[in-house]
Amino acid sequence: MIGLILAAAGSGSRFGSSVPKQFLPLDGVPIYFHSLDIFEPLVNQAVIVVPSRWKDQVYQETRDSWGADRIRVEEGGEHRQDSVRRGLASLPAVDIILIHDAARPFVTGGLISRVIDETRRTGACVPGLPISETVKQVRNSTVVQTLDRNSLVLVQTPQGFQREVLAKAIEKACEEGFYGTDEAVLVERSGHPVAVIPGEPGNIKITVKRDLSGRS
Ligand code: C5P
Repeated sequence: MIGLILAAAGSGSRFGSSVPKQFLPLDGVPIYFHSLDIFEPLVNQAVIVVPSRWKDQVYQETRDSWGADRIRVEEGGEHRQDSVRRGLASLPAVDIILIHDAARPFVTGGLISRVIDETRRTGACVPGLPISETVKQVRNSTVVQTLDRNSLVLVQTPQGFQREVLAKAIEKACEEGFYGTDEAVLVERSGHPVAVIPGEPGNIKITVKRDLSGRS
């Protein structure tokens, strides 16, 4: 069984809006709803992790299109990792887990299917995009070193994991007090390899208002 954890519990502080960005409208529906619609035919169950005050509204908005037995809405945690951990606990019957940022509304069915296939094959998979700019590591406004961009990718979601691989990695990170900015870093630290497949340039994460107004 395939399950989706839609991470929607962030406060969106960089976006500068009192309503978290994932709940703002885009083409007439909330941003989080766009990706949820694309996942719907491709997964068996989904859990959306949200700030507590959004729980009832999000459940009402999603229950009819998914069916009450396929969708759950849970309160997220302080860090993204805490939110994902709660999501994982509420999908006990699922063996392939996809985790997606609610702030990436332009994901495609093709990318989701490729992540699922590679996750079945390898246990852990992320989409990545090559980097066309030069990347430097900087400290105190001074360059420390220039990184080899040919060995770097920009990592997107959905990220896919076999359940045991993800569960072990999250437990290890939590025991050690490590917090990552994605789930793959937890799996990397656990010693399990993470496969990279081509991401999609259109699959942007909405982070600042310009990301919305710049759309054609
Ligand atoms: O902060 P960032 O943009 O990396 O967040 C990526 C995704 O993780 C967003 O969709 C956000 O809602 C989610 N998130 C979460 N729980 C948190 C923090 C972020 O679900 N505590």
